[in-house]
Amino acid sequence: MARDWVDRGQLCRARSLVDSLFSLVRPECLYERPIPERHRIVFYIGHVDAFDWNLVTGHAVPLPGFAPELDRLFAFGIDPEVGAARTDGPEDWPELEHVYEYSNRVRNEIDCVWEQVPEQLRHVALEHRLMHAETLAYMLHAMSPEMLIRPAMGEPVLERESRSRSEVVPVGSGQAVLGRDPTEGFGWDNEFGRHTINVPAFGIDRYKVTNGEYLEFVRAGGTRPHFWRERGGNWHLRRMFDEVALPPDWPVYVTLDQAQAYAQWRGAQLPSEAQWHRAAFGDSDAPYPWGVREPSPDLGNFDSVLWDPVPVTAHPQSRAWSGAEQLSGNGWEWTCSPFRPFPGFERFSFYPGYSADFFDDNHFVLKGASPRTDAVFLRRSFRNWFRHDYPYVFATFRCVHNLA
Ligand code: AVJ
Ligand code: FE
Repeated sequence: MARDWVDRGQLCRARSLVDSLFSLVRPECLYERPIPERHRIVFYIGHVDAFDWNLVTGHAVPLPGFAPELDRLFAFGIDPEVGAARTDGPEDWPELEHVYEYSNRVRNEIDCVWEQVPEQLRHVALEHRLMHAETLAYMLHAMSPEMLIRPAMGEPVLERESRSRSEVVPVGSGQAVLGRDPTEGFGWDNEFGRHTINVPAFGIDRYKVTNGEYLEFVRAGGTRPHFWRERGGNWHLRRMFDEVALPPDWPVYVTLDQAQAYAQWRGAQLPSEAQWHRAAFGDSDAPYPWGVREPSPDLGNFDSVLWDPVPVTAHPQSRAWSGAEQLSGNGWEWTCSPFRPFPGFERFSFYPGYSADFFDDNHFVLKGASPRTDAVFLRRSFRNWFRHDYPYVFATFRCVHNLA
């Protein structure tokens, strides 16, 4: 198993990763709100450090506060219903200079006491920050490209011709193992409660559903994905930093509502969380869908190597026992399972709202990883969740089918 303690080097690397994302935004645009239902970008500059401060000083090492109003202002993000926009203005937020001063001081003080912070809280701080690396990536994706400073990067080869075929692989009836055991190391509250579920036989798509396949649905009246633009009768894709003609072999990023409408149109369904586990792991408790090998770039598109997807047929080495490919990487995968606690769920006393605030049956479980997901989140028990109509995230899907 990977090393299970968090040293200061890991924290520093996470800080640099997230800092580098802020530096992709033109400074005059840091008070923009790319996503109407989320805070302005400046909030996140303060948030990642205020979170560490509140966690460490509130629950481990009681250092004297130096800016309690900022500790509160930057404590928590927001997740209102889609369409419920916020009304604060840029002037309601502190000046950048003060925010940076605050975060620098927090970092210095946290670094001095890091060795005294219990292991579990170190993981929480590290993984929270790494999750925000992805939040920021999809937030920047929602900005107009002129507001961004495009980093130097190679141009990935875009395939113009669709090569993937949809294929259904059978998954025999059997058990799926969900949830984490405390002996397996750090996990968030919602991951615990290891249990097995009997899953009847079903079929599942070998590949994620592509833009090309979803385009047929749009032509038949399906709704347009948030990431698509129509120009002169042709569809284009907003990539991270620009727009290109719609790549037919990339997975389509959609909401759960869109994914379910597509599945219904095809006479199929979305996998439940248990079916997804069954297709990925069978009844084994291997750490990854491809087995026991540690994650590496040939096994999928994750860990911020790329900004955008690759064709759904890339990474055949990622193939799971069932034959399904790319279960971890190239886009989170929607399941039809509402985000609910596993048996025996207990909230973290030091962060009671992390999961429990979202057990409302409006949020649904996603599994896998996106191009911007850190490799730590590839562990089998990790569960992501979003509202069923939240359109901004790197979320893909595949269908399940009744076997005749
Ligand atoms: C687990 C990705 C759904 O972004 O709302 C960050 C992660 N929680 N800060 C989110 C999170 C608090 C969370 N997700
Ligand atoms: Fe957060």
